[in-house]
Amino acid sequence: AISMEELTKTLKGLGLESVPQEPNTYPELNPFDIYRSHITELLAEVSGVDKKIIYPTLAWTAKPENGDLQLAVPALRLKGKDLKAYAQELAEKFPESPLVKKPVVTGTFVGFFFKPESLISIVLPLIFKAGKSYGFNNSFGLKEDGSKKKMVIDFSSPNIAKPFHAGHLRSTIIGGFLSNLYEGMGWEVVRLNYLGDWGKQYGVLAIGFDYFGSEEELVKNPIGHLYDIYVKVSNIQKDEADKAKALKAEVTKDKEEGKDTSAKEAEITKIETEGIDEKARQYFKGMVDGEPKAIGIWKRFRELSIEKYKQTYARLNIHYDVYSGESQVKDESMDLGVKVMWEKKVCEDSEGAVIVDLTKHSKKLGKAVIQKKDGTSLYLTRDVGAAYERMQTYHPDKLMYVVASQQDLHLAQLFKIEELMGWKDISSISQHINFGMVLGMSTRKGTAKFLDDILRDVGEKMHEVMRGNQAKYEQVEDPEKTSDTLGISAVMVQDMKGKRINNYNFDMDRMTSFEGDTGPYLQYAHARLCSIYRKAIDADPSLEQADFATVDFSELQEPHAVDLIRQLASWPDTFLNTFKTQEPTTVLTYLFKMSHAVSASYDHLQVVSSDKKVNKARLALYVAARQVLNNGMRMLGLSPVERM
Ligand code: ARG
Repeated sequence: AISMEELTKTLKGLGLESVPQEPNTYPELNPFDIYRSHITELLAEVSGVDKKIIYPTLAWTAKPENGDLQLAVPALRLKGKDLKAYAQELAEKFPESPLVKKPVVTGTFVGFFFKPESLISIVLPLIFKAGKSYGFNNSFGLKEDGSKKKMVIDFSSPNIAKPFHAGHLRSTIIGGFLSNLYEGMGWEVVRLNYLGDWGKQYGVLAIGFDYFGSEEELVKNPIGHLYDIYVKVSNIQKDEADKAKALKAEVTKDKEEGKDTSAKEAEITKIETEGIDEKARQYFKGMVDGEPKAIGIWKRFRELSIEKYKQTYARLNIHYDVYSGESQVKDESMDLGVKVMWEKKVCEDSEGAVIVDLTKHSKKLGKAVIQKKDGTSLYLTRDVGAAYERMQTYHPDKLMYVVASQQDLHLAQLFKIEELMGWKDISSISQHINFGMVLGMSTRKGTAKFLDDILRDVGEKMHEVMRGNQAKYEQVEDPEKTSDTLGISAVMVQDMKGKRINNYNFDMDRMTSFEGDTGPYLQYAHARLCSIYRKAIDADPSLEQADFATVDFSELQEPHAVDLIRQLASWPDTFLNTFKTQEPTTVLTYLFKMSHAVSASYDHLQVVSSDKKVNKARLALYVAARQVLNNGMRMLGLSPVERM
């Protein structure tokens, strides 16, 4: 980052004695902090109000014509004053400043506009010094003792041998984003994939593999192959169950009619003792008892699937620290959980099963089963044990669960039960990050089942779109790879564009378009900035060595330049705000707005004029914009392309 010394020099040049800095602000990292602190100081002088009260009330404005920052006079909590008149008075008394213009009053609001000259000299050097880390600030993740806060985030978490559905897709994208967000704030993040990998269905799968499995297919395409097997074998399982049921009905009827039922009864017994369901039950029992053979096969399925998942996640720039899963939760942890529930009278017996009646606390929460009659635990019980283990292993400051809103009830029950158990250290740091559904997600070959298929399909569509512009297409070095990256951006941006809780339509045509607020549009904006740089270097190779931080920015007086600089200045604040909203759309909305400001500048701020000084300053502006766009895109999990 820029040093305090350099910053002091810049501000002296503007006519300020020192760097304005209120407590817990970072003038070297965030230009808005400088302005906010400065305005706070001046307002405190003229109003006599405590700076601690003023600072947090200086907020962004909804409309640019109201200023860059705005003070809501009522928030100053002054008694017995005519607030409108007082707003007027504050504005009149507000002294001449090198950083902000004369304030503008609207009703009880006082608006402040940053002076262009100050923006020009403060913002760009700050961006160049911070580079890749501009916008991010590690200080926010530090505890008082200087150690990092830690978050454990459970996201994606698909189920082995089942489709990777839209809920998993969204969890993956949003979870990846949140992980980067917290890391950008200086937190230590443990990315955890809690696989659905345990239960009788994995016995069914193992039996199915005996019937239909192929070693070769398994190694080649574990996820698809296991899924196919699972579908086949569960169909048989279902047929058998249907048949047994029908036979039983017939037997009852035959008995009434006095017919001989021994053949049918033998058939029923055969299904019940040799059918898939019973075999799977026995197999799963072997897994539970830790029989090496049973465990071995299941483990292999699991490991091969994980290997495959890893490759796909890597395409989305996601890497996990832990592949955990339902299978990994220890019996002791669940037993402990149930023991505490009994002790704290959280649970009760219900015809042999153990349940928690949460309706006492809230009707919506209903009753939850903790243990079935036969003693087996459930998804919920496992999550109680898993949360306990996460605490023991990582000592986190935050536990996040990125799961579709279909599981709102499940997680609300989990957190409430933990609270009732007296495990407030867990429930108080737990958060469910939920999100709406994706409607109509299908590949062109049918309904989408696996992440790879979706990404491949969108990549192909993107390739078609690119071919639409033959001249450009021919210049792309590796169209396969580029279309793949663009396709992934298309999917991710479409997913993060709206508020998390909203449903959206999986619209292949729209998301792959270069027009509108799409992934390809952002990629295009980035590639164009890269191309401007390349062209400028071609025209004047000396620019390649240029130290942009020390460029004379006084050349950038045009309204378009100032507007763009103002946008670039607000990225650190946008990032801070994102930490509050926890919504990727906060970042995306900013990136689109900023990209629009960039593209509006091109005609007005060309880099190939005759004046070298002007060229250099403008190029610096574009390089800074590229840096900000690049930082924002990477934080969302996108891979910015340099050419397309
Ligand atoms: N495997 C689950 C599913 O596909 C999601 C798991 C979410 N995480 C959790 N701790 N419950 O529905």
